[in-house]
Amino acid sequence: MGEVVTITSGKGGVGKSTAAANIATALAALGRRVAAVDFDIGLRNLDMILGLESRIVYDAIEVMEGRCNLNQALIQDKHTKTLFFLPASQTKDKSVLNQAKVEKLIGELKNDFDYVLIDSPAGIESGFEHAIYLADTALIVTTPEVSAVRDADRVIGIIDAKSKKSKEGGEVRKRLIINRIKPDMVRKGQMLGPEDVIQILAIDLIGLVLDDEMVVIATNTGEAVVKNPKSVSGMAYSRIARRMLGEEVPFMDIFEQKGLGSFIKGLFK
Ligand SMILES: Nc1ncnc2c1ncn2[C@@H]1O[C@H](COP(=O)(O)OP(=O)(O)OP(=O)(O)O)[C@@H](O)[C@H]1O
Ligand SMILES: [Mg+2]
Repeated sequence: MGEVVTITSGKGGVGKSTAAANIATALAALGRRVAAVDFDIGLRNLDMILGLESRIVYDAIEVMEGRCNLNQALIQDKHTKTLFFLPASQTKDKSVLNQAKVEKLIGELKNDFDYVLIDSPAGIESGFEHAIYLADTALIVTTPEVSAVRDADRVIGIIDAKSKKSKEGGEVRKRLIINRIKPDMVRKGQMLGPEDVIQILAIDLIGLVLDDEMVVIATNTGEAVVKNPKSVSGMAYSRIARRMLGEEVPFMDIFEQKGLGSFIKGLFK
């Protein structure tokens, strides 16, 4: 049975879809069968980051409603053949999701994939509860801003209260991604540093991602940034994927992650 990993956040726009697309691509590049599922009903964008938007015919709601089968709706990535994408519906009606149907769909995906990665809407949006309900692991994305961290803290509480695992007496594994870190601002004391955020949220860290303009360039070209070995953020997502597979990958010093030079130095550390 595959593992269900939900990528979520409290505040919107902190980088969930970017993380989902890149981690899915990295896990698939490491040989795992990965289904990336867009649960942000009405607001597709995982498709754009993966560069697959023009291939969409059916979506997750149509599978759940029995209007097509799962294989018809899954889109295989152009380059990474073990990566598949299940699009969100663009319907405006967010009440279309229902727990039994979501559970059936995710169950089917778990049978066929090593990882079912769910790109969740932010914690304030409807659809969020369905996205976290079946999670085995939640990757909580936050930026190092006070408002985002506070909202992430709320979401951790909701996961502990409302996930199926919690209802059955277990616990969803929660791991933290701090995204869009600006080392210069942290150094000047103008931005929370990773230690501050980890201390506030008190969950395990799985990745530190710098603010990186290559993310924007990659999204515009539909090529996940993780495929670019020159990008510091791409390499950060790839290390997150390796940590998910259980590898002990040391965390890099954010103050040394600036450019390719230090990236290469990092390889020999
Ligand atoms: N590490 C990064 N460096 C620079 N820009 C980034 C980084 N991560 C994400 N972004 C940019 O931030 C914006 C929001 O990212 P994204 O869509 O992944 O967030 P989201 O959490 O999925 O948003 P929503 O809550 O609307 O679904 C995008 O324009 C994306 O390119
Ligand atoms: Mg998103």
